[in-house]
Amino acid sequence: MKNVLYVASEAVPFIKTGGLADVVGSLPACFDRRYFDVRVMIPKYMCMNQEYKDMMQYLTHFYMDYNGKSRYVGVLETKYEGIQFYFIDNEEYFSGDRPYGDILYDIEKFIFFSRAALSALPLIDFKPDIVHCHDWQTGLVPVYLKDSFRGGDFFRGMKSIITIHNLKFQGTWDVKTIKRFSGLSDYYFVPDKLEAYKDANLLKGGIVFADAITTVSHTYAQEIKTEFYGEGLDGLLQARDHDLRGIVNGIDYQLYDPATDRFIEKNYDAKTFRKEKIRNKRALQEQLGLAKDDGKFMIGIVSRLTGQKGIDLIAYIMDELCQEEVEIVVLGTGEEQFENMFRHFDWKYGDKVSANIYYSEELSHRIYAACDAFLMPSLFEPCGLSQLMSLRYGTVPIVRETGGLKDTVEPYNEYEGKGTGFSFVNYNAHEMLGAIRYAMRVFRDRKREWNKIIDRGMAQDFSWHSSAREYTDMYDWLVP
Ligand code: ADP
Ligand code: GLC
Repeated sequence: MKNVLYVASEAVPFIKTGGLADVVGSLPACFDRRYFDVRVMIPKYMCMNQEYKDMMQYLTHFYMDYNGKSRYVGVLETKYEGIQFYFIDNEEYFSGDRPYGDILYDIEKFIFFSRAALSALPLIDFKPDIVHCHDWQTGLVPVYLKDSFRGGDFFRGMKSIITIHNLKFQGTWDVKTIKRFSGLSDYYFVPDKLEAYKDANLLKGGIVFADAITTVSHTYAQEIKTEFYGEGLDGLLQARDHDLRGIVNGIDYQLYDPATDRFIEKNYDAKTFRKEKIRNKRALQEQLGLAKDDGKFMIGIVSRLTGQKGIDLIAYIMDELCQEEVEIVVLGTGEEQFENMFRHFDWKYGDKVSANIYYSEELSHRIYAACDAFLMPSLFEPCGLSQLMSLRYGTVPIVRETGGLKDTVEPYNEYEGKGTGFSFVNYNAHEMLGAIRYAMRVFRDRKREWNKIIDRGMAQDFSWHSSAREYTDMYDWLVP
């Protein structure tokens, strides 16, 4: 039996701001339980839904010296769908209405979390063979495992993995401050360890010290070794190439299943979508006050509204796009300029554009089910889960060929009768508009072809099945 502990800043169903939570919450359940005991540790945030907080039971607590004070560390636990979750509790650090906010304070609290997570292990009767870390928030865990936690029997031989879900965010601040928070010695603050461009960088620490590195698609694993996508760490990632692999994300096929989804108007599957899917479109038109017209090409966007997601391309052609027979449904939050941009077009084209600037699990499912197409023109995309959800719901993705989008959406080829979506290569608004118009023509003029694209998309398997096998291989390689 191998023990694996996931340490991360979010996990569904307890707390989610993006795809990281989907992965950390759903992957652990996909391993063969005869050989693997995979558990998850995240902070207990005040902003978690009460129903989840009510599920947690107190396990233990201790005090830890951190940043000049002795601080309370509580450990709570619950079993959710067969998986053991642990929650690190400290009301000072994990209060607030969101998991993240001010970056400096985030750095302070996630270094606290990383140390507390390791310190808690000897007390909770779980000794991992592998600690699997995710993103910059847990970047110091591999460092600590080679440093202050190395002595003593408990931690001896414990391996670590870091998975990069997004290289853009690295947890960077000046050396002096991070030295104070982390308690690490000068030895670590040099350019071949935590230092990067004169500052200290938590993700870099993870990449340097982890025994293995993964990221969430094959293409992104290649891209991050180049200057354009490397975010300043391309040299390091080249150097660690031997220990770096790309494993494409999956999604939870039970949670995202148009045949059983409780949020959507009318359930359907790969056999019945031709007749039934349209009822979801009609219901959404009604709900959001859009024109009730089956012939309108309904495009969905469910996304963080940030530069990463290519929202500026959309802004650039919104007016032009709205001259067509389209409906555009947006669900997302993020940068104010983008939120206001969509609000503006909602005001300007009331029965064509619906801007929903908030977070809603329910509406997201209704959009995946209702739309004809799903737009994701990302500047970069480590993996992307929304396009996988769209494929699962028979909603045709229109994507830019980057990262995981390139690995998971096969462009339509009308001559060979192949493909599951539409794509474009360059980060160019009119190239994107060209792809949208092409999709629209197939939708309008060649319905049978369109439906075959959906057939192929719904026949794809992006459940965790095959990816979990790749993680299994990696765990077996690290701990034979
Ligand atoms: P990222 O992690 O970069 O934000 P992903 O495509 O990997 O992108 O995952 C995004 C996840 O967050 C998907 O599950 C998507 O449905 C969900 N999501 C994003 N914005 C919202 C929102 N406003 N409301 C509900 N779900 C959202
Ligand atoms: C990040 C990436 C996204 C990926 C998700 C889960 O948030 O932006 O592409 O799907 O992590 O790995």
